[in-house]
Amino acid sequence: MRVLPLALLSTAISIGLSACGGSSSDSGEPIEVPQVESLKALSTTYMGAAVPAGYEDQFSNGIETRPELQDVVIQHFDQITAENIMKSAYIQPRQGDFTFQDADNLVDWALDNNITVHAHALVWHSQMPSWMENYQGDWLTMMDTHVSTVADHFKGRVVSWDVVNEAFNDNNDNGYATYRDTDANSGGHGSPWYQNLGKDYIPEAFKMAHAADSGAELYYNDYNIEDDGAKLASVLRMADELLADDIPIDGIGFQMHVSYDWPSAQAIGTSFAKVVAKGLKVKVTELDIKMNPNGDRNTFTAAMAEEQKLRYQEIIKAYYDNVPANLRGGITVWGVSDADSWIPHFTGHNDWPLLFNSSLEQKPAIEGVANELK
Ligand code: XIL
Repeated sequence: MRVLPLALLSTAISIGLSACGGSSSDSGEPIEVPQVESLKALSTTYMGAAVPAGYEDQFSNGIETRPELQDVVIQHFDQITAENIMKSAYIQPRQGDFTFQDADNLVDWALDNNITVHAHALVWHSQMPSWMENYQGDWLTMMDTHVSTVADHFKGRVVSWDVVNEAFNDNNDNGYATYRDTDANSGGHGSPWYQNLGKDYIPEAFKMAHAADSGAELYYNDYNIEDDGAKLASVLRMADELLADDIPIDGIGFQMHVSYDWPSAQAIGTSFAKVVAKGLKVKVTELDIKMNPNGDRNTFTAAMAEEQKLRYQEIIKAYYDNVPANLRGGITVWGVSDADSWIPHFTGHNDWPLLFNSSLEQKPAIEGVANELK
């Protein structure tokens, strides 16, 4: 028998089950550190990660200055999303002043490393520059300038766009969620786009994006639509309207900022299947799993790590079971290291939602993903 070179041997072990490479102590209690060789090598669809980037990024944790983060991304992912720097506040901070440098650097880095880019996001009510929010002129022209300029700039270098993000409220009005509207009607988070253009801003944005970059896949993206509830019903009704009018939409992005206990894997699978039934692609765009959504689980224990592993695994399974290969847009996690996750800022609680711990060591969660991909 020929002796395997050491590198190959460790690959063979790590692609096998549960190789344990030591233990981490984010929790004070030992947690297994798996040795998954490469998620992207196991996956038949895009395996993506959001990355913080740009020297002006609000957490000053841009990937440009972090070779260890770059290494993990290159090893495991074949797609990235810019966590912030392609949003309107960053890319057109003053009217007519498009600041592409940080995003260009990131896209160049990705392409140099054989990583594709999913671009995020053209039209969103949040992280808008104040000039845009308070714009007094013709909103359709202003939207066209933004969407066309940005989509054209990245044409041929990004594979897909979140064209419209988060157009719906979280309410249930006779089985449907209403469109995000004024702040008063939308829990303090209204949409200036809707206020100025009505719901037609959505098809218009898709048409503009397609005219600028006909090669990119175009997604509508939202959160809390994976529980098969009123908000998903509204997204599906909107999709019907767009499809009936031949609007160029390719798929629905499920952000999937979920929790260890919500929603059920069955509801998630049903939600995916309802989009598939429309012939649209399903892309998981911002997956993370809160382990402490209510602030009552303030230490990450070995038991929680195992719980999270099984939870990641059942979500990946729901995706593969319900979305046929030709409609898979990919799966992206919203960050790499727990230390960079937006979740603790959002919930106000400690949390460990991602696949790597704060030292960029693998968590059992990654093994849950890898097990299912195999
Ligand atoms: C979040 C980023 O992760 C944070 O860094 C930023 O402070 C706020 O935005 N839905 C989206 C993402 O579509 O753009 C958001 O990203 C998370 C929720």
